[in-house]
Amino acid sequence: MTAVQPDRADTSRALRFPPGFVWGAATAAYQIEGAAAEDGRTPSIWDTFSHTPGRVHNGDTGDIAADHYHRFRDDVALMADLSLGAYRFSVSWPRVQPTGRGPAVQRGLDFYRKLTDELLERGITPVLTLYHWDLPQDLEDVGGWTVRDTTERFAEYAGIVAGALGDRVTYWTTLNEPWCSAFLGYGSGVHAPGRTDPESALKAVHHLNLAHGKAIGVLRSALPATARTSITLNLHQVRPASGSAADLDAARRIDAVGNRVFLGPLFNGDYPADLLADTAHLVDWEALVHGGDLAEISRPIDLMGINYYTPTLVSDGRARTDGPELPRNDGHGGGTGSPWPGSEHVAFHLPPGETTAMRWAVDSTGLYDLLMRVARERPDLPLMVTENGAAYDDYVSPEGAVNDPERIAYVHSHLAAVHRAIADGADVRGYFLWSLMDNFEWAYGYSKRFGAVYVDFASQARIPKRSARWYAEVARDNVLQD
Ligand code: NOJ
Repeated sequence: MTAVQPDRADTSRALRFPPGFVWGAATAAYQIEGAAAEDGRTPSIWDTFSHTPGRVHNGDTGDIAADHYHRFRDDVALMADLSLGAYRFSVSWPRVQPTGRGPAVQRGLDFYRKLTDELLERGITPVLTLYHWDLPQDLEDVGGWTVRDTTERFAEYAGIVAGALGDRVTYWTTLNEPWCSAFLGYGSGVHAPGRTDPESALKAVHHLNLAHGKAIGVLRSALPATARTSITLNLHQVRPASGSAADLDAARRIDAVGNRVFLGPLFNGDYPADLLADTAHLVDWEALVHGGDLAEISRPIDLMGINYYTPTLVSDGRARTDGPELPRNDGHGGGTGSPWPGSEHVAFHLPPGETTAMRWAVDSTGLYDLLMRVARERPDLPLMVTENGAAYDDYVSPEGAVNDPERIAYVHSHLAAVHRAIADGADVRGYFLWSLMDNFEWAYGYSKRFGAVYVDFASQARIPKRSARWYAEVARDNVLQD
């Protein structure tokens, strides 16, 4: 492997990251921008979903969110103040191409031009994601990700954004966490568009894979040779509750429909045989996958993004195991379907130990294991941790400060895991904290705070939490102090 090795700094127990390691923070358009009906933007599936009673906690919507659309200059200044080297954001599809087809809206593209100019002026590298879940509602109305035409629409949209920003953005990501788009959006229904049909979820997953492949083709021809293309996956670090054959089989199924449904076509140009067998009763794969699709999906990429928060502990649901069982819809509330087509008898458990405000177990070994797995499978492919972080019940003290030692501990342990993976040969090039600031946490609305920067949504005041100052030091020094 070609990774630059990290080292231990001086005689202390500080962990030094390789020179050039990218320190960033991430956000997504619908979660922070607001300005939902401004400058020609039309509803996305998340506007429709959040405005549907009962879908999002407290009836929250992204109408205003963190008002980033109007405050981006101040937000970029804050990033500079926090010594960030890179900023990962997403482009809102309905802001630049409202109906999901046809000509672009100039004002929408201008927003991202101004944002990227501002970043570049301050020496912050823009890392752009084309799709972070906000499909134009008009496309959903004609089938959304369950229909093949959406893949063509996505390729067209990718070409528009590449044409507008290709001269200033080097890092391009097609999709963010397509697992969530397909399986939470069309399977369990806890995410937009809120459908609960396993066949639709499997069609969506193939079309998302294909949309990625087509977009990579478009980006390659539209962008300069220096551009770096990627996809970001929320790979699951799946652990069986015991070594029993039934539990191992449960873990295999979840690995198939959680990980290999993406890694198979992406890396090997094929869907795994066990996935096809497990789901054969739910979808007609032969009709779904056309000749040439797999070649498109497996087009080479330059970088792989990995989002990681918590491991996934599973057992055979037909047998009893100790420990509390998690709701099968991943605890996002609301939905009624399974996000795991073909794995209906698998039970999910909360691993022992500490949890975050999401009720997600804190386990940095999961990140290490995941990075090592992908590095083993694709030693030639540079990796980025494109999201990692934690929600806690933050509050502002009477002195106006936000003290969040748990978040510092969480990020510290996960950065140590990244350092260990690099030392063991994984070519990890960067780390992006989720999130730059508190935002609309999908079905949880504003009730969960992931930010390094606290947002008072009533006044839109930003208060960097203690973790933000701590992270700024790590980023500035390229060293994690023990
Ligand atoms: C992954 C998603 O990409 C992001 O949008 C979300 O807010 C975080 N996970 C936390 O749940």
